[in-house]
Amino acid sequence: MQIQEMNRQIEELIGNLTLEEKVAMIHGDALFYSGEVKRLGIPAVHMSDGPMGVRQEFPKANWIPVGNSDDYVTYCPSNSAIAATWNRKIAYESGRVMGEEARGRGKDIILGPGINIKRIPANGRNFEYMSEDPYLISELVVPLIEGIQESDVAACVKHFALNNQETERLWVNVEIDERALREIYLPGFEAAVKKGHSYSLMGAYNLFRGVHCCESEALLGDILRKEWGYDGMIVSDWGAVHNTEAAAKSPLDLEMSVTYDFDQYILADPLIEAVKEGKASEKDIDEKVRHLLLMMFRLKMLDAAENLTRKSGCYNTAEHRDTVRKAAEESFVLLKNEEHRLPLKAEGMKELLVIGDNAERLHALGGGSAEIKALYEISPLMGLKSQLGGNTKVTYARGYYVSPKEESEESWQEKSTDENLDQDAVLAERKKVSEEVLQKREELRKEAVALAREAKEVILVAGLNHDYDVEGFDRDNMELPYDQDQLIEEVLAVNPNTVIVMMAGNAVSMGKWKDKAKAIVWQWYCGMEAGNVLTDVLFGRVNPSGKLPESMPYCMEDCGAVALGEYPGRPLTEEEKKHMNAHTTMTYNDGIYVGYRYYEKYNVPVQFCFGHGLSYTTFDYSDVKAYMLAAKGRSEKSDPLDEVAVITEVTVTNTGDRTGKEIVQVYVGMKDSKIDRAVKELRGFDKVELAPGESKVVQIPLTRRAFTYYDVKEKAFVVEPGEYQIYIAKSLQDVQDTVTVTIK
Ligand code: BGC
Repeated sequence: MQIQEMNRQIEELIGNLTLEEKVAMIHGDALFYSGEVKRLGIPAVHMSDGPMGVRQEFPKANWIPVGNSDDYVTYCPSNSAIAATWNRKIAYESGRVMGEEARGRGKDIILGPGINIKRIPANGRNFEYMSEDPYLISELVVPLIEGIQESDVAACVKHFALNNQETERLWVNVEIDERALREIYLPGFEAAVKKGHSYSLMGAYNLFRGVHCCESEALLGDILRKEWGYDGMIVSDWGAVHNTEAAAKSPLDLEMSVTYDFDQYILADPLIEAVKEGKASEKDIDEKVRHLLLMMFRLKMLDAAENLTRKSGCYNTAEHRDTVRKAAEESFVLLKNEEHRLPLKAEGMKELLVIGDNAERLHALGGGSAEIKALYEISPLMGLKSQLGGNTKVTYARGYYVSPKEESEESWQEKSTDENLDQDAVLAERKKVSEEVLQKREELRKEAVALAREAKEVILVAGLNHDYDVEGFDRDNMELPYDQDQLIEEVLAVNPNTVIVMMAGNAVSMGKWKDKAKAIVWQWYCGMEAGNVLTDVLFGRVNPSGKLPESMPYCMEDCGAVALGEYPGRPLTEEEKKHMNAHTTMTYNDGIYVGYRYYEKYNVPVQFCFGHGLSYTTFDYSDVKAYMLAAKGRSEKSDPLDEVAVITEVTVTNTGDRTGKEIVQVYVGMKDSKIDRAVKELRGFDKVELAPGESKVVQIPLTRRAFTYYDVKEKAFVVEPGEYQIYIAKSLQDVQDTVTVTIK
């Protein structure tokens, strides 16, 4: 349909809607859908979490799932896993699966991807997010959204913005300097709306400079709507709206929440009252309805003729399972592989000892709103046993004891957002480990160590699970829970060849044993085929090709957010108390020094650096060059900063004996800069596949934006003229060559 015709129809509908009908459309009429207006053929908008597939069905007004057998789905790799592939095509394909499944399940919006910056490994939701680096996020979020929206389903990029911790997530006020905001925390969202054209976006729980994000004119109005020209639909996080008049005025379009008193939502009956009392304007409501209708048109929900062509989607297809398996394959990160411990040889392997609760645990149905009711999930143990078959005797020892959870994730989620509860007590209760539990752990450890002493081949699968990688909760430290360090150390002492598999969605401390282990494989929550893919990786059928999308510091205190920032926040000052509805303030004193930008600038050693990841083959880099391009004639429309300024080139050769994929990374730095800068920043990357002996010339373009910083006075990204160093690297710390260019 032509835009003019669409706009005409939108205005006509708005003209025909009563105040009550408009208000019905802009707040939840159920936990996961908005109100409909049958009279005018305006349907409800059906939403579902996100972001690892489509969440199970909930009744209209109950957080206890319906429990039908028809809402099992394809369980996709988490956003961390997708980020670790550094593969734009995989991001697109993963998005396509999610979009098709969402549409197949009758949804209009899938509540993802989650792209908040991983500012600190404490954040219980880091597994749902991509990276600590805004460029990597921006490059992957665009194809991911495009993939989702192929199916006439809206992506909902979340949580806008600065929702970087779970501690006090509803009530933490974030203070941040403009440069850090622009350089680190906003680019992913800007790419998602300007390049990915995300049809919807979710406002965050926290406050931004004293105002709750969903009511923030500065964030939603000045930046999102005006500066970025966003005309998509803005939905609140569930329960993130607090004030009727403020929310009515703000650019937020749809209020969703967690309670069942839908008519009493902030933008429900109280809004009708406010309009009648002259405290809110119906014009502002029209604007919200306009955005909702526009999204509905885009999704072909409104026009009868177009609706016939709306994609129908599908879920649980063999093709989807195949696609998510391929995505998972590229997400594994080989952190360490001394003495060629890996890959293992299946032929002739008579016995194998597998240790670790994570070898047997299924993770899909955990983590909070990101839970997935997976059609199936292959555990590592099942993957190993089913692929090794009857000629290998696989013995399993749990190795560490995970105390059973007495309460469901939903109940913890509710408790951790309940203002009336003492949050310290909630946390303490959750962390309680009884004497009995400790004793069980010791027994399991002793059993595993005794078996490992005698075993020829041992695989130890440890790490975190969704008791830790979870919504509503931050970790106190990076130590492995359940006394796993002790288990790993003791197993390595009696069997130094043990292969360690770390499965987690967030950095963990491996400092106590990482130097003693010969092989360490990192596994994310990477979907339903995880155990099969792990087996493929361990036995060399898949050559690992993922690289870390985040740094792995030794401990939380090493992190910029703790060392410089105020994590987890400070009490409000008397002044703040007067004008903000918050519990704490978190000043991001770490500024732009997030993740590797901090570790490198402040010389803080890390366990494994950003961009690190090995392969079973080796790659040689040669003939590094950089071509300068003359500035092209600029068209009115295109942003001059998006013009390619330099093309970097490197010849990559596979010097080993098996096919592999290498991620070439390009960082840019400016040693003689007049301004305070990170040593270097990721500005380009590409992933190439090479057969043994094969060489490829890899060209990675750098736009002028790659040489910018945000100038607070100019209120713009600017290029400081001068000499820049371009680093062609295998990882942040493994620079292969440097070229210097002069940028004017
Ligand atoms: C989460 C969102 C989620 C929503 C709906 C909130 O608690 O922060 O990410 O989409 O719940 O389940």
